[in-house]
Amino acid sequence: MTVKFSNVGVIGAGAMGRGIAQIAAQAGSQVLLLDSFEGAAARGREALLAQWRKQLDKGKLDAAQCDALASRVQAVESVQALAACDLVIEAVVEDLEVKRALFRELESVVSPSAILASNTSSLSVTAIATALKQPQRMAGFHFFNPVPLMKVVEVVAGFKTEPEVCRQLADYAGQMGHSAVQAKDTPGFIVNHAGRGYGTEALRIAGEGVADFATIDRILRDQAGFRLGPFELLDLTALDVSHPVMESIYRQYYEEPRFRPSVITAQRLAAGALGRKTGEGFYRYPDGEMQKPAEPPAPKVDTLPPVWVSPRAARRPELLRLVHALGAQLESGAAPSGAALILVAPLGFDVTTVAAVERLDATRTVGIDLMVDDAATRRRVLATNPATRRDMRDAAHALFASDGKAVSVIRDSGGFVTQRVVATIVNIASDMCQQGVCSPADLELAVRLGLGYPQGPLAMGDLYGPTNMLEVLFNLQTVYGDPRYRPSPWLRRRGALGLSLTHLEE
Ligand code: NAI
Repeated sequence: MTVKFSNVGVIGAGAMGRGIAQIAAQAGSQVLLLDSFEGAAARGREALLAQWRKQLDKGKLDAAQCDALASRVQAVESVQALAACDLVIEAVVEDLEVKRALFRELESVVSPSAILASNTSSLSVTAIATALKQPQRMAGFHFFNPVPLMKVVEVVAGFKTEPEVCRQLADYAGQMGHSAVQAKDTPGFIVNHAGRGYGTEALRIAGEGVADFATIDRILRDQAGFRLGPFELLDLTALDVSHPVMESIYRQYYEEPRFRPSVITAQRLAAGALGRKTGEGFYRYPDGEMQKPAEPPAPKVDTLPPVWVSPRAARRPELLRLVHALGAQLESGAAPSGAALILVAPLGFDVTTVAAVERLDATRTVGIDLMVDDAATRRRVLATNPATRRDMRDAAHALFASDGKAVSVIRDSGGFVTQRVVATIVNIASDMCQQGVCSPADLELAVRLGLGYPQGPLAMGDLYGPTNMLEVLFNLQTVYGDPRYRPSPWLRRRGALGLSLTHLEE
């Protein structure tokens, strides 16, 4: 198979430019690497050669392949040297004016048929392309760090980009071993837009004092299957990177409440507690190792009270079976006895509201999150209300930990932790489909490969039930009166009709 672009220019020999040059050479292109900082392109080339030599040592490449790759990358010193390129990918500093000036110069040098691409992550492709006489030949080509390992690239069509340009870039991405997804030129494109829900909602939950950072992380890892908790993730990416992205997307969407950043990260950024790289973030990193706070043990309770389960509990039959299997005495009366621990399992509502509406004795009422199938989760999450008695809280904790499963007890919150975070992610993704930012299939692929979520966000919504997602959001809106929870029309209609979130209209 012949390579789509035989001569590829890569401008910017930083982290991203090097990675792009590497996979372009591996695809079979001749690559010219350019950087305005003296010697940077040559150093970038050396780093690539070292990378390939390492693969040679590991037996992943043979000597001939290694030599061939080395011969395909050349460092150059001026834009003029890129004249013969049929594709140029720009990966210089994230500054609109710098990029525009560079593209203007580039267009005066390359042939009229050459395709021009920018690896920008947060600027408008349309705005960059206005520097060109032929804006139709330019597109976004947004890779992720580290490029060789993150196997997805967003192909972004600006206002005037010709569809053929996007098709060619997508084909080339395939030759580089990457999956291309097609995005409209909108703030955050696909991955950085879809990724807004996880951290911002977790920050809201922490900000309300519902649970500490480590508990929220444990819940989202163990209950919802995320590889990293939101605060572990923020520590890894560092707040000097992630907080400005939160602010930028919020502003670019004209202060859409779903993307509202948090004062928690603003303050921590100001304090320099950036994350792993500064040794202190949401966790501490003495000697580079994360220090995880110990988890509070389950209390010892000699005699468990009888348990009464609200008739309106989510997954009630399952909850009754679970309580029975754990050895508690179940009450079957229409109302709890005076001694009973009262269990509620709301979707979206907080325990306080449920206790008040169902006229339950709040001092004995504890909530459990049963949006998630108990058999499929490694952790159970309980919530108290401000009136819950200590003995009832301890009894519930001891009961649900009695088979060895981890239990977290949080303060009252609409939707517990997983419901809130998952519903927020699903709602943002649904709205991206509603706006036509990309196709549902590309959204799923981009999020799985770009963010490493356990499922694509629409599949996540289908897993927990589109109707449940809708119920969680409606009730969160009631509890918080906050427009950030208003359901997207995409979710509202599919949830109301019980359709899959990937369902397309005929
Ligand atoms: P970097 O700072 O590691 O490298 C940028 C390089 O561009 C530097 O070597 C600099 O000397 C060079 N440069 C600056 N102005 C130039 C000019 N006018 N002409 C030629 N070279 C110039 O930056 P990084 O992280 O590689 O990012 C580059 C681009 O990729 C930015 O647009 C960024 O937003 C985007 N991006 C970055 C990601 C990341 O995780 N670092 C992820 C996805 C996109």
